[in-house]
Amino acid sequence: MTHALPPDLRRRRFLRNGAYGSSALLLPAWLGGCGNSGGGQPVAPVEPPVLPPVTPPPPKFAPRGTHLSWTADPLTTRTATWFTDGEDAPVSAIEFGPVSAGMSAADIASAPLPGRAEASTSATPGVASFTHKASAAGLDPNLPMRYRVGSAQAWSPVRVVRPTPAGEEFRFCHFGDHGIGPSSSTVLRAAAARQPDFLLIAGDLSYANGDQPLWDDYVNALEADYAASGILLTAPGNHEEEDNNGATYRNRFACKTSTLSPDGTFYSFDLGRCHFVISTGGCFATDGTLASEIAFLETDLAQAALRRAAGEIDFIIVSQHFTIWTDNEGRNPNNPTLVLLQENIFVRYGVDLLAVGHDHIYQRSQPMAFGQPNPLGYVQVTAGTGGKGFYVLLPQSAWSAFGLQDSHVFTEYSISRGAITAVSRSVDPATGATAVIDEFSIPRRSLGAANAAVQPVRSLARLGQSFDANYELLARRTRAANRMKLAACAQPSHV
Ligand SMILES: [Fe+2]
Ligand SMILES: [Fe+2]
Repeated sequence: MTHALPPDLRRRRFLRNGAYGSSALLLPAWLGGCGNSGGGQPVAPVEPPVLPPVTPPPPKFAPRGTHLSWTADPLTTRTATWFTDGEDAPVSAIEFGPVSAGMSAADIASAPLPGRAEASTSATPGVASFTHKASAAGLDPNLPMRYRVGSAQAWSPVRVVRPTPAGEEFRFCHFGDHGIGPSSSTVLRAAAARQPDFLLIAGDLSYANGDQPLWDDYVNALEADYAASGILLTAPGNHEEEDNNGATYRNRFACKTSTLSPDGTFYSFDLGRCHFVISTGGCFATDGTLASEIAFLETDLAQAALRRAAGEIDFIIVSQHFTIWTDNEGRNPNNPTLVLLQENIFVRYGVDLLAVGHDHIYQRSQPMAFGQPNPLGYVQVTAGTGGKGFYVLLPQSAWSAFGLQDSHVFTEYSISRGAITAVSRSVDPATGATAVIDEFSIPRRSLGAANAAVQPVRSLARLGQSFDANYELLARRTRAANRMKLAACAQPSHV
């Protein structure tokens, strides 16, 4: 059985192939051509050209652009997303097994893989390709996983992924505003070299901006530099909205889904003694889920605060693309009402860390709330420095603890019982050399502060009254603000 492309994409494929084919008609100068007959003059001998080596084309249905994420239990599952090219696609699957003690490299590469899960397959938006997603489940949390993806026609190499730490200690890296190109690859490789248990990219991933083949370049670079053998989690950004309000993002990435978030654009999960929430920050306001997401933030964070006060977890960590506060020149809240609403929820339930991007600067706040330092507030880390060009950092506000412009930076967080210890490193785009530019830690809240964050869940209607937030109007205004942001991003000064 194969899946077939719709006719419009077959035509696009044909046109693409035609364009490639026509390049073969560009004859080299030494063969002469129209108006270059030599006019009867003696012709100097010409050295035959040295032709580049011919690279055989990949086999049909060769998997590419593979990246891994968690869509269920981080300890016992991994979800792979990959792509095949062509006008149809085979039945595809992930095959997996443990790396057992004593296995040699040859065993790892060739021993039978006992687990198998068939992939869901769908046409990739705007290109003649197919997206495949499959989850390996029932993994031994103490052993690395080896796996391959593909089909009977073509398999990927067998790759190995480290086990997710089952205890209280783990590490993750974070940056946003990634893009495609040498700087983007250098930052990704520098973060990968830290061997984090997962990497969190806080939106503005490819900057394809609707040019769908660029997404292929992006996922192929992800595979090459990190994500076929490491866990990648993502939050969407305003540039993901460019692709049919996130249709491409939804297709090309696999995130944890729920009743309120059937496409996984916002989600939460636990790891160690941390609770993580990934929010859209309103960047997909056209899809009609903004009110659902606010209800999700309110209920999910209220439950997390309760669990923290009960001693089940130590920290609540939120990530989204948009900042709540910033000292980036010329930037303001995406939608002031939405930001006020979000910040009220974050402060009410005692969010400890907010990891964001969007502004292409590095800035880390003191614990803060409502634009003022506040020991009961959250630490915001803006690392919109994953590879794109830089913006201007203004003189810093009272809430700011550290800021830096004109450097590619990623932040690594080490979690242990009762403490988050973080190190931010700049990356030299030419050499890949890293240097520590900022260090900070976030201690666990006192029991009194944790108890103070245990608050009753408010209904959407009550929240709406408090913030004068008609949700339909809120979505409409956020959508309009997103459009203005994207228009601003199209200016030459915003790269
Ligand atoms: Fe950006
Ligand atoms: Fe952005």
